[in-house]
Amino acid sequence: MIVILAPLGAQTKNPFDGNRAEIDVGRGIFRIYCSPCHGIKADGGRGPDLTLAAANDEGLFKIITSGIEGTEMPSYGDRMDADSIWRLVAYIRSAARKETSPVRGSASNGEKLFWGKGGCGNCHRAGQRGSRMAPDLSMIGRSRSAGFLRESMTGPNATISPGYNTIAVETSDGRKISGVQRAYDAFSAQFVDAKDNYYSFLREEVKSMTREVKSMMPSYSKSLSAQELNDLVVYMGTLRGAK
Ligand code: HEC
Ligand code: HEC
Repeated sequence: MIVILAPLGAQTKNPFDGNRAEIDVGRGIFRIYCSPCHGIKADGGRGPDLTLAAANDEGLFKIITSGIEGTEMPSYGDRMDADSIWRLVAYIRSAARKETSPVRGSASNGEKLFWGKGGCGNCHRAGQRGSRMAPDLSMIGRSRSAGFLRESMTGPNATISPGYNTIAVETSDGRKISGVQRAYDAFSAQFVDAKDNYYSFLREEVKSMTREVKSMMPSYSKSLSAQELNDLVVYMGTLRGAK
């Protein structure tokens, strides 16, 4: 008898599609291997929001197997069998969502607001311009949904990006300085302010040193109109990195 074995992953249909038990196994694998970059609910972080991924099942399988060269996305084909990868695909599919209603706005006006009235570029980078204090937004359109982008402007404290807490220090001569955390432990703190000044203090040399789980980013719910917020969401949606 001749048994013909299909090469690993040659099938294009997910054998676990919609299977609750296998999806749960996939979720578990995802938490361990993928969530540090793609978020615990697959809705993005350092890597893109996968609940919005456009690829079909076969495309997802290929990406997970081979990775994406020249980026942080690793390949898993040499550490996971095809079944585990299909379980991951089934999980990602189950988490998929569509943007409920497309946001209407003007990207070019959003870009003007970003560098002008909104002052976003005083803290953020987009492409070759801007400040390094706050997260680089050059690829934000791939990693965050419109809903998240809106919330980051209207309620910045609701979703603080990991590692971007606010450090406040009062020096021994009474000066108050605050900035975005770069490092913080029991003995010292390093942080950066909006002018790109870098500070480093030992706890013992200052009057007080606190870390606040709140964002340096102001809320724009009052200073920008609903339309201006939409324009900014649409503009940020176009920031997809150099490709
Ligand atoms: C070290 C961080 C990291 C880890 C771990 C990681 N990824 Fe990624 N992943 C990325 C980055 C960054 C990208 C975007 C690459 C690019 O620029 O195209 C990406 C892209 C992807 C994409 C394509 C999404 C799109 O919209 O283009 C998929 C699918 C994906 N990852 C799935 C996974 C799965 C499943 C795992 C776990 C088995 C995983 N990733 C682990 C960082 C990571
Ligand atoms: C005073 C500095 C400052 C200004 C001005 C500012 N931001 Fe931020 N922003 C931050 C900091 C710090 C964070 C990280 C902490 C957090 O998540 O809130 C952040 C986070 C964000 C995030 C979330 C990024 C992620 O991946 O989690 C988005 C999106 C964002 N800002 C957009 C904007 C836009 C658009 C504007 C202008 C309308 C703006 N910011 C103005 C400091 C600023």
